[in-house]
This record gives sequence, C-alpha cells and structure tokens, in this order.
Amino acid sequence: MIELKSAREIDTIRRSGKITAAVLVELMAAVRPGITTSELDALAEKGIRSRGGIPTFLGYHDYPASICASVNDEVVHGIPGERVLVEGDLLSIDIGTTFEGFVSDSAVTVPVGKISESAARLLRVTQESMMEGIAQMLVGGHVGDIGAAVARHAERHGYGVVRKLVGHGVGRAMHEEPQVPNYGTPGTGPELRPGLVLAVEPMINEGSYQVKTLRDGWTVVTSDGKLSAHFEHTIAVTPEGPRILTLRSVGEHPDVERYRPDAEKLSGESMVRS
Ligand code: MF3
Ligand code: CO
Repeated sequence: MIELKSAREIDTIRRSGKITAAVLVELMAAVRPGITTSELDALAEKGIRSRGGIPTFLGYHDYPASICASVNDEVVHGIPGERVLVEGDLLSIDIGTTFEGFVSDSAVTVPVGKISESAARLLRVTQESMMEGIAQMLVGGHVGDIGAAVARHAERHGYGVVRKLVGHGVGRAMHEEPQVPNYGTPGTGPELRPGLVLAVEPMINEGSYQVKTLRDGWTVVTSDGKLSAHFEHTIAVTPEGPRILTLRSVGEHPDVERYRPDAEKLSGESMVRS
C-alpha cells in the first residue's frame, strides 16, 4: 500500500532531511586522499546523533555502519572500513537519518582530489539524471515518468542504467512502496499524488548496466569493473511541485532552485554571490 504523508509529516521529513544534508556536507568536506571510509563513517554517526537523529542504516538487516561508502567500480552498499582513499578515486556516500520517527535518505558521489575528465562527466550526468527524474514528480504524473526521464538522459550519454536496484517510497520506514526504477515507460506505474514521498536514486555505470554482489553480502559492483556513480534525494510531491527534503547548502545542481520553497530561499547576499 502506498501511504501519502500529511503536510505536517512532510515537514518532519524535511527536519530529518536537514540533518542528513548537514552531515553529508560535513562528509563531503572531509573527503580527501589519506582518509579511510571508516573515519568518514565515524564522522557521520557523530554528526547525526549530535543533531538528535538516529543513523537509519546502522543495524538495518544487520548492516554494520551509518553510511555506505562505495569506491570506483562499487555501485552502492560498500561497507566502510580501513580502505584509504587515494587521489583520483570516486566516492559515493549514502546516508540516512531517522528523526521523530521519520526517515530521510540521500547520496552523493564526489571526487577524491583530482579526477579524470571522463569520471567528472559521469558524476555530472548522474546528478543531471536525478534532476531530470525529480522534474517529473508532478501531481497527475506516474512513477514511470521518473525512470523514463532518468534513463533517457543517462543513455543519451552512452551510460548503463542499473536495473537491479531501485528507488523507493520513504516515510516511517526507509523502504516503502512504491518501487521507483531508474527506467520505465511514461504514463505507467502508480499515479503521483500530493503527499507521496520518494527517494529518487539513479545508479549510473560508465559501461554496462550489469552488476554483481560481493561475498560480503552487501557491496554491489559493476560486472565489467568500470566506474559507477550514485546520487539520491528524498522528495515530496506537492501541489506546488516537487519539494526536495534532503536539499543541501552546497554541491547541488543549479536546478534545485526551482524546488526550493520560499521559506528556504537563500539570503540575498548568498544569492548574488554565485
Ligand atoms: N540508501 C540505501 C537505499 O536507498 C540504503 C542503504 S542500505 C543499508 O536503499 F542497509 F545500508 F541501510
Ligand atoms: Co534509498
């Protein structure tokens, strides 16, 4: 069953999402050659708890950490550990917070130091694909509109769209109905109604869309060993359009300004600066 959220519940998910966003900003700033993924995980747990949240991932189906840290050919669900990041790596950080009973879920992929031009292009196009999907979250549309838009953009650049993992509804549980594939047919799937809250999370591969899971039972990697990127936001369908509930202060695609409610507009000073 698809559960629609009240305006009040959406506001609570936004408060959860502000914690997720603030901690993600801290982690993005901490990423550099020489840091380990478990150091980032420790920062994340501290950042979430110090803001009154609970790390949603920790203990979820026995998952042992507060973030997923997936490097290079790792697509998602990499377990933080003693791996030391090196210049040129691509790091995907996925993080979730539970606050006042509501979950927010978000991910970014960031460069470690200087990266190749082709890796930078993969990052850019993956974030653009997510934004194309979010733009479809209009009342009266369908879930299939989202995936169709994501896949169209990624495939136009020759990339592989991961099919085995999908986005999802978000609420009191991290994974609610409906599933949100990153491919699809416009006009098909559940209807988009006010109060529907979804995690849109394209996983885009430089090569083939095919993936496999490592023997740790978690880490998903590309079958061909090529790079992968992942971006994710938690977004509400509202009569005023899509509202990104995990919106950050840095590292967003410029299009997010279209989805920023008046109450969250930046001050005049920071708006002229860019
Ligand atoms: N953000 C991931 C998702 O959307 C959740 C990570 S899985 C976990 O499915 F087990 F680590 F929590
Ligand atoms: Co998710």
